Amino acid sequence: MKNLGKLLLLALVAVAFTSCNKDQNNPGYTFYPDMQYSQAYETYSENPVFADGYTNRAPAEGTIPRGTMPYPYKAKSFDDQVLAGVELVNPFKGDASVVAEGKRQYDIFCISCHGAVGAGDGYLYASGLFPAKPTSLIEDYVQNKPDGEIYHVITMGSLSGLMGAHGSQVRPDKRWMIINYVRSLAK
Ligand code: HEC
Repeated sequence: MKNLGKLLLLALVAVAFTSCNKDQNNPGYTFYPDMQYSQAYETYSENPVFADGYTNRAPAEGTIPRGTMPYPYKAKSFDDQVLAGVELVNPFKGDASVVAEGKRQYDIFCISCHGAVGAGDGYLYASGLFPAKPTSLIEDYVQNKPDGEIYHVITMGSLSGLMGAHGSQVRPDKRWMIINYVRSLAK
């Protein structure tokens, strides 16, 4: 009786060992192979399923990237620039760390035109490579503008279009930090 129990246990262990499939990639028996292994279209291949023939679909209308907010103020519109100045609020106070990051961003995106201290004498203009005189950022004209208006200029460019939009290059939070830095440059 004792031996029978041991024998049964041994048989059980043997079954347990042999019943497992060692090949992890083999699903075993495939019932509907065309469902198990669906044939995907290549992203840029032609596609007979859609009317326009493209596999790669455009995002649904109104889709925005995660972490971004739609920007409602239009480029080259005086009214929208002023409105942005009234409605948009800088989320940062000018702490040292914010100003330091603002300087870092300014030195990447603005210094070439507006110059090291914001006087509008950056290398691109001074060397004659860029024909339009960049506005001085340290005089009253810019310093008296609300933060939101400067934010609008960075995002959408200047009214005349002589300064291009930087919205696609500078992240929203960094734009505000640049403004904090520009404030620190004021005469
Ligand atoms: C390619 C050169 C160039 C770069 C880069 C540039 N600017 Fe300008 N900026 C200009 C010019 C030129 C003007 C004058 C535009 C005009 O009068 O329409 C100007 C004007 C401005 C004004 C005044 C707008 C107004 O309402 O009159 C502000 C503020 C400003 N720039 C900030 C910035 C900041 C901040 C950056 C960096 C994110 C930057 N600019 C990058 C060339 C540049």
